[in-house]
Amino acid sequence: MPQATFNFPRGFLWGTATSSHQVEGNNINNTWWAWEQEPDRIKFGHKSGLACDWWGGRWREDFDRAAEGRQNAHRLSIEWSRVQPSPDRWDEDALDRYREMVRSLQERNMTVMVTLHHFSDPLWLAEMGGWENDAAIKAFEKYCLKVVEALKEYVNLWVTFNEPNLYTVLGYVQGVFPPGKKDLGLALKVTGNILLAHASGYHAIHSLQKEARVAIAHHYIQFQPAKSWSPLDAWATHTQAQVLNELFGGPLRTGVLRLPVARKRFPEAKGTQDFLGLNYYTRFNVRFNLLKATELFGERFYSKDADLSEGAWLANEPEGMFQAIQWAMRYNLPVIITENGVNDAEDSLRPRYLVQHLHQIWRAVNFTFPVKGYFFWSLLDNFEWERGWTQRFGLWALDEETQVRTKRPSANLYAEICKQNGISSETVAKYAPEIFEKLFPG
Ligand code: FCB
Repeated sequence: MPQATFNFPRGFLWGTATSSHQVEGNNINNTWWAWEQEPDRIKFGHKSGLACDWWGGRWREDFDRAAEGRQNAHRLSIEWSRVQPSPDRWDEDALDRYREMVRSLQERNMTVMVTLHHFSDPLWLAEMGGWENDAAIKAFEKYCLKVVEALKEYVNLWVTFNEPNLYTVLGYVQGVFPPGKKDLGLALKVTGNILLAHASGYHAIHSLQKEARVAIAHHYIQFQPAKSWSPLDAWATHTQAQVLNELFGGPLRTGVLRLPVARKRFPEAKGTQDFLGLNYYTRFNVRFNLLKATELFGERFYSKDADLSEGAWLANEPEGMFQAIQWAMRYNLPVIITENGVNDAEDSLRPRYLVQHLHQIWRAVNFTFPVKGYFFWSLLDNFEWERGWTQRFGLWALDEETQVRTKRPSANLYAEICKQNGISSETVAKYAPEIFEKLFPG
């Protein structure tokens, strides 16, 4: 059996990612909580409820799990509606609580990355029209200043917005996220306001912390034409990427938002990233289809022989991770993988998914692409938005009724990788023997 190790650079960040609404519980003052109370919004009427009970204090034991699993970093998010429960009130106790959390990550020798906006909005903001209202930009800037002032002693990696492309598309085009609208004009308006809010947040953070590193966590989907020779498939593929990957990615790089139907200048947004945050999960084939006008004439599908997750939600397409990093290279910035993972209650696919994606990151690093860290989604099962509790992304399983956590084999696998700062042949043989030959051809 060949023996080798794919080594990662010294100082590489090995972490997991979580988000406030998905893990804290009792976030009664935000748009998602309200959304959960409406009929037919969430699968089986599930509710976030106590979630992983982090607000009740269970973050301590989960941070211990992460540290014992040899992780040296963690990405978490701050719940705006806790810090600012109404427009004229800051909750200092909530800020103290967050300060305690990030401090204790540091005490566990973990680097902290903080996301300021991860899908949920305070109800008072929604009542003002949310991101449709230009006033949201200033409100976000004030919120950033408040949080950064409180946490800057312990944090210098900041994500202003998580996946703003999904936030706008799911909330304002498909209507499956709050506020549940289907209106392209509003989607465009919201995109513009989030871009401007990111830009002012970027400068606000830097005004308080010179050494801050600020980014957006981009949800990047790799699209490839179903038939490589078909100009129509190529066009449909380009259009999908233009809308999803370039909605925010474009203006942040060039200052211009280009869509099939619109073009708008956002010079303020250009160059407002210190690193490129990349959330990559899967890759789709795209076929031109005249009947799919609402999907921009592109029909997305997975390859016939794809290695699919439960419910065929995600396909294990690790080369797409390499392609995602190649896409990120156009920004000339360091790259951090801010999310990557798979829904898999049985933990039968997750071990090879994890190893194969990390192997592609290792390849990218060997092409001298500056990838600095990796945050696996997620540390433990949590409330998966409109899919409720039906999808299990954790290294640790959670029984949300009893709050009992159970370790999945992938937690041990990831711990070995973090500890070795690399992927050894022994580790792969032990946890994902089915791909051993592929990674270490004999
Ligand atoms: C990402 C989200 C994250 C989680 C994973 C599965 O798009 O950022 O909150 O839901 O998907």
